[in-house]
Amino acid sequence: MKYPDKVYLNGNIVPPEDAKISVFDRGFIFGDGIYEVMVQIDGKFFYEKAHLNRLQEGLNKINIAFDTSNLLIEIEKLLSVSELTGKDCLLYIQITRGVAPRQHSYPSDIVPTIMMYAVPKVLPQINSVNAKVITREDFRWSRCDIKMTSLLGNVMLNEEAMQHQCFETILHRDGFFTEASHCNVFFVKDGVVLTHPANELILDGITRQVVFELCKSLDIEIRETPVSINDISEIDEAFLTGTSTQIASIQQIDDHILYKENKIGPVTQKLQEAFLKIKTIN
Ligand code: PDD
Repeated sequence: MKYPDKVYLNGNIVPPEDAKISVFDRGFIFGDGIYEVMVQIDGKFFYEKAHLNRLQEGLNKINIAFDTSNLLIEIEKLLSVSELTGKDCLLYIQITRGVAPRQHSYPSDIVPTIMMYAVPKVLPQINSVNAKVITREDFRWSRCDIKMTSLLGNVMLNEEAMQHQCFETILHRDGFFTEASHCNVFFVKDGVVLTHPANELILDGITRQVVFELCKSLDIEIRETPVSINDISEIDEAFLTGTSTQIASIQQIDDHILYKENKIGPVTQKLQEAFLKIKTIN
């Protein structure tokens, strides 16, 4: 992992060491902010509108008065100064509520802090990871639909996967799988794709939405329904989705091995191939 060459901060584009914010920024004090991650592939941001819409919706949900409609111009400037115009890269955007004396309630005239950076990132054509994952109780709060910067729960749950030499931790609440620490999770049973409904218990991933589109175009049935942790042995395939994960097959969930060899299930493979095709046209 490398730091970016340049950071955009409130209209200025500066080297990272000069990008300074107040220690009283509510993003620092409370994790009071929204973020977004998207990737540029073949000179275009993949599902850029969907990402920026989700960013705007997140800001609206927590009452940060910021209009994202002018952000694209700023992103172009950042890419240009970062020498990443037209190049494969990952863009991180973070908008916090801004700076104020520490107190839970916030002043009405507070000015949001806008920070962005881009780093070179070339995604593989198809993610060849065949992931081993662990399962854990989803102890996060119950507004996981908000892509907030306070990610301590996700960080703790992801770290457990790393400690177990696993790719991800898939989470369950009240006995049903929700999502993973930084991905959405899908299961396949008898050719039908199953995933948790997009409610307040998961982040409605853009890649997740793409999977719905792909299933439709491939005539694969997909259902938004929670999958019970007790049904794991009945599952034929499972996969993870996310902006940089794309579609990653799951080979093993805790001690349950889905595939003995490093093979990919037929539905997962179909979706990966279809995903690769749309990457070049979107
Ligand atoms: N993670 N669920 C969670 C909890 C996530 O953090 C993410 C994304 C997703 C997938 O969303 P999308 O397909 O829109 O990337 C699901 C980002 C990439 C991150 O935190 O770096």
